[in-house]
Amino acid sequence: MNDRYTNTIARLILSLLVCASVLATACNKQKKRTETTEQTQTQPRKAERADKPNVKQEKLRALDEFSSIKDEKERALAIYDEIDTVLSHPRCVNCHPAGDSPYQGPDITRIGDTSPKPHQPLVVRGEDGFGAAGMRCETCHGEANFENVPGSPGWHLAPIEMAWEGKTPGAICEQIKDPERNGGKTLAQLTEHMQHDALVGYGWNPPAHLQPAPGSQKIFGELFAAWIEAGAPCPPIDRPR
Ligand code: HEC
Ligand code: HEC
Repeated sequence: MNDRYTNTIARLILSLLVCASVLATACNKQKKRTETTEQTQTQPRKAERADKPNVKQEKLRALDEFSSIKDEKERALAIYDEIDTVLSHPRCVNCHPAGDSPYQGPDITRIGDTSPKPHQPLVVRGEDGFGAAGMRCETCHGEANFENVPGSPGWHLAPIEMAWEGKTPGAICEQIKDPERNGGKTLAQLTEHMQHDALVGYGWNPPAHLQPAPGSQKIFGELFAAWIEAGAPCPPIDRPR
């Protein structure tokens, strides 16, 4: 063994050691970096969860809150605007769409989910509003909610002449009073429908991830009955919401 050979071996061992320590430091740094990224990712997520969008149910003003309006027609019109906050709510409009498919959501448990989305999977009204063969509403929607799946007896899509999506308060108002477009209902039958129909009632009893319609069906029913009794006046069709 000559000196040159030993020298080379020693240098080789030394450089291997240096390499190993460089690698170890790099690895450590990498680990720390991942830890910090994890931290910065979880913290804002927690903060966002604290203020879920739409989680609060909207208020519906009760009938006696309108008694200060002395003019009867003016009072009835103000009451109708309050009624419209229910009619235009996703719990109703998702099932009264302008096209052939329902909408779903917004899901209050999902961050940033603020507007209804097309129904997943895609379903269509079919001939009777209960869906096409093989994708019938009752395949998934039972008589009551089941976990995240909404349910109510007779779950099906409102007929196209009862579409509310994208319409002004005045347009919906004229439409629900019109027997040609409301399923042949008299004003008394319409009130009865608002107060006691199961699909209407669902609006205040959705699964936990969906926001209920404003107020309660009882307050809503009282507003509706008072509006009918006062002659059921409608706002101008071209006035936006
Ligand atoms: C394959 C199962 C399935 C079928 C079939 C189905 N749905 Fe749904 N539907 C769901 C689920 C699940 C949800 C809840 C989605 C969510 O909010 O996470 C839902 C939500 C909805 C909503 C939203 C309710 C709300 O409060 O916003 C409407 C409206 C609706 N479905 C109507 C219908 C109609 C009408 C039919 C038949 C034409 C139908 N669905 C067929 C599974 C189904
Ligand atoms: C699961 C779907 C579904 C939901 C949710 C739903 N509806 Fe309907 N709605 C229907 C169907 C189907 C009809 C037609 C059959 C009937 O008259 O019972 C209808 C008819 C009506 C009518 C009578 C006809 C008209 O449009 O003039 C009114 C009023 C009405 N719904 C109000 C509401 C209100 C208010 C809500 C929300 C609080 C609501 N609906 C939620 C499916 C639904």
